[in-house]
Amino acid sequence: MTKSVDEVRADIPFLRTGIIYLDNAATTPTPEPVIEAMLSYYHEFSANVGRGLHRAAKRATEEFEAAREKVARVIGAKPDEIIFTKNTTEAINLVARGLGLKRDDKVITSLFEHHSNLLPWQRLERERGVKLEVVGSSRECLLNPAEFEAAIDRNTRLITTHHVSNAIGSVQPVEEIGKLARDYGVLYLVDAAQSVGHMPVDVRKIGCDFMAAPGHKGLLGPQGTGFLYAREDKISALEPLLTGGGIVEDVDLHSARLVDPPQIFDAGTPNIPGIIGLGRACEYVMDIGIDKIAEREMELTRRMLKIAENSRVEVYGPRGLERRGGVVSFNISGLSPHEVASMLDELAKIAVRSGHHCAQPTFRHLRINGTARASVHYFNLESEVEKFVELVGEIAKELGTL
Ligand SMILES: Cc1ncc(COP(=O)(O)O)c(C=O)c1O
Repeated sequence: MTKSVDEVRADIPFLRTGIIYLDNAATTPTPEPVIEAMLSYYHEFSANVGRGLHRAAKRATEEFEAAREKVARVIGAKPDEIIFTKNTTEAINLVARGLGLKRDDKVITSLFEHHSNLLPWQRLERERGVKLEVVGSSRECLLNPAEFEAAIDRNTRLITTHHVSNAIGSVQPVEEIGKLARDYGVLYLVDAAQSVGHMPVDVRKIGCDFMAAPGHKGLLGPQGTGFLYAREDKISALEPLLTGGGIVEDVDLHSARLVDPPQIFDAGTPNIPGIIGLGRACEYVMDIGIDKIAEREMELTRRMLKIAENSRVEVYGPRGLERRGGVVSFNISGLSPHEVASMLDELAKIAVRSGHHCAQPTFRHLRINGTARASVHYFNLESEVEKFVELVGEIAKELGTL
């Protein structure tokens, strides 16, 4: 039982504003069943989790923990391997702060990361003397496992890469990098911000130790939600970012005995409605079928790439569809990305992102300041994409330069 595009569109109130929403790489709109799940928490069992014995507290705890199972199912993990966070960035910071990396330990990452997968490692470099090595050389922003292999030495503790580039759309060879990490006994963290929910993702196939992901992008979940997958034999090695109430077995004045993972990562009152909404969102995308979402995004991307046929338009990233996600990053010669984005909005309510997309090193590598970026999800229509292609062509013809 899959959900048709029309059914999904009918479920998303935001689309009734008439917007052509091609900014899904930033965040996605929320379907009504996800909003309803959050509302049902507020209306029916608006209590705290993990503590009370009354019926509302029990129900809130059950629904909160059920969300862990649903998230786990999406990525082929076990519920006890899922740590809730407020976004991808927090999940990456949790690994960076929590692994106890010390002076001269080495972390390898790539030139094409989102700032959220660069700054946490830079901080370790500054504060703890961790060595950060950055690899990547391809013009299409594709990662080459051989470059990671060459950078591994006996001090290397962790490799971290994105799965799909938010800036350019390249799909990275995460399974190959995962194998490499295992062969050398190095940990592997995948930033799956642009892949989970958009395409089938299986942590066992990738063979990663950690995976950071948002609830509010491919999964169509609420803003303020995300998670970290930590493999069951690695999760205990992680120090939680927060400590305090809600995670203790027994406390004395100078010591405390804490609960086991993953609940040890839930200090303080979490985003209970958001996490319940995230659980519902996981069911929702699984009802559509994640392979169906991937197939459709690929077709929409194929159509978007037609803008490249115009000699005044430059599209960045891999030429072929097989190494691409649903993100198309482009420039019209003679116009700034912000001018292009403003015109698309003003002329046809088309929402695209413009700028450096939190990936400045990527754009320095490409020797440009930024791009306009269109990114799709399952609910986008062929006619919306056609409108986008047509308008980009018209703007390039009227205002672009050769
Ligand atoms: C590849 C990548 N990593 C990390 C992030 C940060 O995600 P979040 O906003 O969930 O912290 C993003 C957001 O766009 C992203 O695209």
